[in-house]
Order: sequence, then C-alpha cells, then structure tokens
Amino acid sequence: MCGIVAYIGKEQAFPIILKGLKRLEYRGYDSAGIAVLNNESGLNNYKRQGKVSELEDFSAEQDTSGTIGIGHTRWATHGLPNNVNAHPHISTDGEMALIHNGIIENYDSLKEELVSRGYVFKSETDTEVLIHLIDDIKTNEKVKTAEAVRIALNSVIGAYAIVVLSKDNPNQLIAARKSSPLVVGIGKNGDFFLASDATPIIEYTNEVVYMEDEEIAIVDRNEGLRIFSIQNQEKTPYIQHLELQLEAIEKGGYEHFMLKEIHEQPRSIMDCFRGRLNVEDGWVGLGGIKDYETKLAKAKRIIMVACGTSWHAALVGEYLFEDLTRIPVEVEYASEFRYRNPIINENDIVIAISQSGETADTMAALNLAKSKGATILGICNVVGSSISRITDAGSYTHAGPEIGVASTKAFTAQVTVLTLMALTIARKKGSINETDFRRIITEMELIPDKVAKILEKSKKIEEIAAIYKDATNALYLGRGNSFPVALEGALKLKEISYIHAEGYPAAEMKHGPIALIDEEMPVFVIATKGTSYEKVVSNIQEVKARKGKVIAIITEGDAQVKEMADHYIEIPDTHEYLTPLLTTIPFQLISYYVAVMRGANVDQPRNLAKSVTVE
Ligand code: M6R
Repeated sequence: MCGIVAYIGKEQAFPIILKGLKRLEYRGYDSAGIAVLNNESGLNNYKRQGKVSELEDFSAEQDTSGTIGIGHTRWATHGLPNNVNAHPHISTDGEMALIHNGIIENYDSLKEELVSRGYVFKSETDTEVLIHLIDDIKTNEKVKTAEAVRIALNSVIGAYAIVVLSKDNPNQLIAARKSSPLVVGIGKNGDFFLASDATPIIEYTNEVVYMEDEEIAIVDRNEGLRIFSIQNQEKTPYIQHLELQLEAIEKGGYEHFMLKEIHEQPRSIMDCFRGRLNVEDGWVGLGGIKDYETKLAKAKRIIMVACGTSWHAALVGEYLFEDLTRIPVEVEYASEFRYRNPIINENDIVIAISQSGETADTMAALNLAKSKGATILGICNVVGSSISRITDAGSYTHAGPEIGVASTKAFTAQVTVLTLMALTIARKKGSINETDFRRIITEMELIPDKVAKILEKSKKIEEIAAIYKDATNALYLGRGNSFPVALEGALKLKEISYIHAEGYPAAEMKHGPIALIDEEMPVFVIATKGTSYEKVVSNIQEVKARKGKVIAIITEGDAQVKEMADHYIEIPDTHEYLTPLLTTIPFQLISYYVAVMRGANVDQPRNLAKSVTVE
C-alpha cells in the first residue's frame, strides 16, 4: 500500500506534497515523510510516526522551502511504524532521497551484499536497500542517478513504485514502477506531479500518464517528461485526460468519507446502470464486454476472484449468474486461488472484482489464470487501474472515488454490474424469459429511490446502533443471496468498530454459533420476503428462544417479524435478486454509527489501508 506524492515545478513543493499525502492517507497512515531540495539549505527530510497531521505539526516551524520534493505515507510491511522506518530514506552521504511503495522480495540478499561493502542500515525496512543500491551503482559505475536507478531495478525482485530525488540534479525526479501504481501529472506551467493515484493531482491538472510495469519516468524542468523501459528503450508517453472532479474526492459537508459514500449510493447505483439499461426498450448491455458476450454465454464455467468486500459481491454474483444463466460459478479468494495450483484452462472465464483494481492477490490470481490461457475479465472501480489494464475486457462500476477504507458504494456498484452482466448473458443464452427479464430491469431502475428511502431511516438506525454500541460480539444471519450480505455486514462492523462479528448462513447457526447466543448477543437477521422467508422466521425463533437480541431487516409492512424482533428496520419491497442492494444499506449505517459512538477512526481504521497492494 503506502501513498506516494512528488512535485517539481515553480511552486513550493512541501505544501503541495503535504496536501497530496492527506488525500492519499487512505492508502496508509502509520507514518509520513517529505524530503525537499533547497538550493541553499540542501536536502531537508522530515519524517514522523503517525498521521500526516503529525508531520504537518512537526514541520510547521522548519525550513520546508524548495520547489522539488517527494513525500510518502506508510503502511508498514517491514519494520515497525516509527520515525526511522518512515520514508523518505536517505543515502549515506545525504545526497539522495527515495520513497517506495511495494515490497522488495530479495532485500535480504541485496542487503547482505551492501553490508559487506560497508553500507550501514538505519531502518528495518526493505526499502532502504534501494537507496544504498542506487548509491553503490552510482559511485562504482560512475553513472548518473537515472541510469543507476535503471541498473538497480534490474537486480530487484518484487513490487515497487519509487521516486528518487538527488542533490546532483535539482531539476529532475526519477520514478519507476512494477506492480505498484504510479501516475504522472502534467501540470499547466511546466510542473509535474507523481502520485500513487490521481487524487492528489486532479486539483492541478487533468492530463496524466499511467505508468506501465517496468517503466522509468524522468521528469525534468528543462526536458519535460521522458519514459524508458528498464531495458533502456525510450517510449512515447500516453497522455490521458481525466474526467475526475475535485468534489468527488472531498467530504462535501459530511463528517466522514464513509458517511458521504453511503449517502452517495442512490446516485452511484444509477451512474452504474446509466446507459446500460433501458426499461422501455427492454434492453441491457455492457459496452466493455460486448465482444465477449458469446463466449460468456457459451462458458462451461466462470470463476470469480476477489478479496474482502469484493469477494462478498462475487458471492452475490454467483447466485445471480447461476440462477439466471445456469452457468456454474466458482467464487475464490484470490489469495488462496493463486497458491493452490487451480485447474484452469483456455475454456475458462475468470472475472476479477476489485474496487481499487490494484489488490496484489487479485492481480496475481488473474496473471495465473492468464498464463493458463483463460479469458480474464475485470470489474473495477478505479479507471486506468492495473487490473483494468491487464484484463482482456471488463466493465467499470462508475461509483466514483471511494476514499473511506470500509467499502460501501463500491459494493453496491459491483453487485449492480454483476446483475447487469448476468442479465446480459442470460438474454444472449435465452435462459431468461421476457416477463422475468422485464420485471427485473423495471425493479432495477427503482433501486436508487429505494436506497434513498432507506437512508431516510438513518435516525432510527442510529438509535439502534446506540443500544448495541458496547457489544463485544455480533452475529449476522441471512440465507440465499442474503448470506453474502450478512458476511459483508459483519465485515463492516469488524473493520471500523473493532467488534468481533460473524456472518453465517442462517440455517448453519444451529450447527455451532447458536452456542454463543445469550441475552448480550445482538443478532442481525435479514428476514425480507422471499424464497427463504419462512425458514428465516424459524431461525429468528431459535435465537429468541435463547434470549438473543434480534435486529431484523424486514420488508415494509411485514407484521410477523416485526412482532418477534427486538428491533426492525423496514426496507422497500423489490425483486428478490436485487435485495442485496437494499439490505446492505442498514448494515453500513449501523457499523458507521457504532464506530462513531465508540470513538473509532471511521475512515482510517487501525491496521488497515484502502488498497492492499502487497501479499
Ligand atoms: O480494492 P479491492 O476491492 O480489490 O479491495 C479488496 C479488499 O481489500 C477490500 O474490499 C477490503 O476488504 C475493504 N476494507 C472492505 O471494506
């Protein structure tokens, strides 16, 4: 993970980088640092354990002037979060500074060699080998910094996005990437920005270049941007115009990004199906997979790979795909799939689901599937992300930037795309009749308004949250396509409020978890009208018989569960396939309010980071 920001231009670099780090803080927040180069005072490096605000306070009285600099916000992999392990790392002679996102897998052997040559390591990080290695090559081979970086990267195994700043060339920043994202922003006044994603850049420019793996970018005040492969072949930068708006990455009056993103869902779901669904004409289509519709319809098997919340969306997808298309679907944790010698061949279709499009395990699973000849498709939110670029085809979720670490609107957008995809394939295959198809798409169009209606119940949901905020455990139950929603509800509560929670298929409760139930245990049950309604009612009775507290999500007007439950949250009726888009909303709000009441850092929960770009 980790966030990288760098600037070279006419403005003061420090405030630009500091602001950029705040925007990237969702990527890691255990320490931060900025190095700036100043013609008089030299290379000044400020690092602080903790949030970017700690660095801001610490550097307030210092000389931070300079028009070239690099900054980093860290999510620790090697070495504790402390001032020493924070980036930038500086060469022994104090002449060069480097920031890094990723993991250098062969750092041990590189370190051993460098130590034998007299280098003294100050930190416990894998990153420090890079700065000493570059320094060593520069000294021994008498080459310039850019060439030393290139040579060094040829002996590095692992993932990296790096930026190097060197005193001997105050007009130049050198950056490189492999498996960790890096974007170059081309400013309007000859200035350049480098960042892990576009969010720190769009305030200044919409012109960007997404770097490819094993590319080195040199940004120079006089010569502009040049890109080379690490084999030293010059490449033509592919400049893209970003549509991203600044408001999309700001809180817009909400106390937290998570709350803003929960409330954005009526719009983000609509944005997701806009232009892909036409109720009047009875049509659905996803432009991105148009050329693969026949292949999908003929598939003997589809495998979905994902992590975390995206994996839960994939589970919802499994229900939809199997029911609507009758194609067998396997949903895999990307991290397990990649290491268990899976049986895949060229007839398989592997769909990766990822908000960030950068998750290392999901990327690796896709690469494995690709190497075995499978067709690989992606469902990503971040435009231009690594997964969206390595896949054969795919569909964006168009949810807009998701900054809160806990995924909310990305989940509902993923489920929306999966629904559209399943419907598209079912139509192509003829496995759905016209009446059912029309009923589903008509209901789909109403979902944004129904989500808005649930959001209006926030006050009631907040009151329920207040009752259970001190719980130490919670159970989430659901059946059918509500089971993944139960898993997602439990994950939301765990990750932001640190309450232990488990999601279970409601019927499985009696095979173990029922032993946990007593009068202290909140049990959140999805009990909406549908195929399993009566069964879920029985499960509620089982909980009540053991004095558990039931908080039920019910269909509007359902008198039966209303009577039985300790608390209920009514949601509008919809087609059974679409219920996950509604039932997940109260769970997101419950988790949010509980976390706020417990004083937890909602947008940046402990130990987590937004995109997990390391194994
Ligand atoms: O960016 P991705 O969708 O690939 O991320 C996958 C998970 O890391 C992510 O969903 C994580 O579980 C979230 N913190 C959940 O809220």
